[in-house]
Amino acid sequence: MQLVSDLDTPSVVVDLDVLERNVSRMAESARRSGVRLRPHAKTHKIPELARLQLAAGASGLSLAKVGEAEVFVAEGFDDVFLAYPVVGAEKARRLLPLSDRARLAIGADSIEGAASVGEVFHAAGRRIDVLLKVDCGYHRVGVAPESAAGMAKRLAELPGITVRGIFTHAGHAYLASGRNEIDGIARSEGEILAAAAESVRAEGLEIEEVSVGSTPTARGAMSVDGVTECRPGNYVYHDASQVSLGTCSIDDCAMTVVATVVSVPSSDRAVLDCGSKTLSSDALRPRGHGHGWILGRESRLEKLSEEHGVVRVAAGETFRVGETVRVLPNHACVVSNLHDRVVLARGERVEGEWSVAARGRVR
Ligand SMILES: Cc1ncc(COP(=O)(O)O)c(C=O)c1O
Repeated sequence: MQLVSDLDTPSVVVDLDVLERNVSRMAESARRSGVRLRPHAKTHKIPELARLQLAAGASGLSLAKVGEAEVFVAEGFDDVFLAYPVVGAEKARRLLPLSDRARLAIGADSIEGAASVGEVFHAAGRRIDVLLKVDCGYHRVGVAPESAAGMAKRLAELPGITVRGIFTHAGHAYLASGRNEIDGIARSEGEILAAAAESVRAEGLEIEEVSVGSTPTARGAMSVDGVTECRPGNYVYHDASQVSLGTCSIDDCAMTVVATVVSVPSSDRAVLDCGSKTLSSDALRPRGHGHGWILGRESRLEKLSEEHGVVRVAAGETFRVGETVRVLPNHACVVSNLHDRVVLARGERVEGEWSVAARGRVR
């Protein structure tokens, strides 16, 4: 039997017991709220994991990029929403063959973007479903809620485009300073989108999907009347940021990085073999220092270079060259994209591995 402590390092380890619990809890929340769950598979990029999500009741997958969709559709996934403003004829041409094999939809928040895809589908005698992105306060992409009806109407007039619904993402919840603020953002995410859907329907358009979701806001937003779908992604793994936000506890975190202490240059400094190429440079959210938490230790990962993780050793703790530690990353979704495979474990027992089949598919 192989143990996690026997692994060559750095290795990304996924605890299957925790993962399965996270998958089934979110599926149960969606069932109780009466909404479809369409998990965002950009978090893990692993077809085997997505199959667990579908087996638990997910209705389909969310993805961001056409390249991810190519991988998942080739693996047999037949209901994919690219929750991203897909723009350009080149991407549209790649989507065409996928639409033979899967029910596809893309996000849009502009006439130019949607038209660039719609024209290619129209020329091929086809149509593509679009969900209009509405900004519920994150201020990244999306039209203002009061512009949703006008924009949806214009989108629906484009050749090759069918407006299936509207969607939003409350990414600003990641900057919230506590559960109360997150709960407020979740409620307003759902309420803003449900109201925007009504304004679009008032223009005579059918809106089948009203889609919300981030991991911190999922349960709050999905329980708002009028919401039909939720798209959390990170919940399968969780990470140090979710613990900091109060979304979950450390025991709910399925992904850790096993690293080896490769140097102890002084009593207050140790160096791990995981740097930014292993853990990413993403900051702890909502705020805070460090590049991930070393489980069971007070010592903090203070500084990363590409292949070195520099630990400020806490008073009373020691690190030994050659020993292994487990690091809870700040942001699991980015760690996924840095690794070819994840090792599967239950507690300390290694059970196999999965290939991160869609890693690097950012185009
Ligand atoms: C559009 C969109 N939907 C859903 C999600 C999933 O959110 P989370 O990673 O918080 O679960 C994301 C994440 O970035 C997103 O950008």
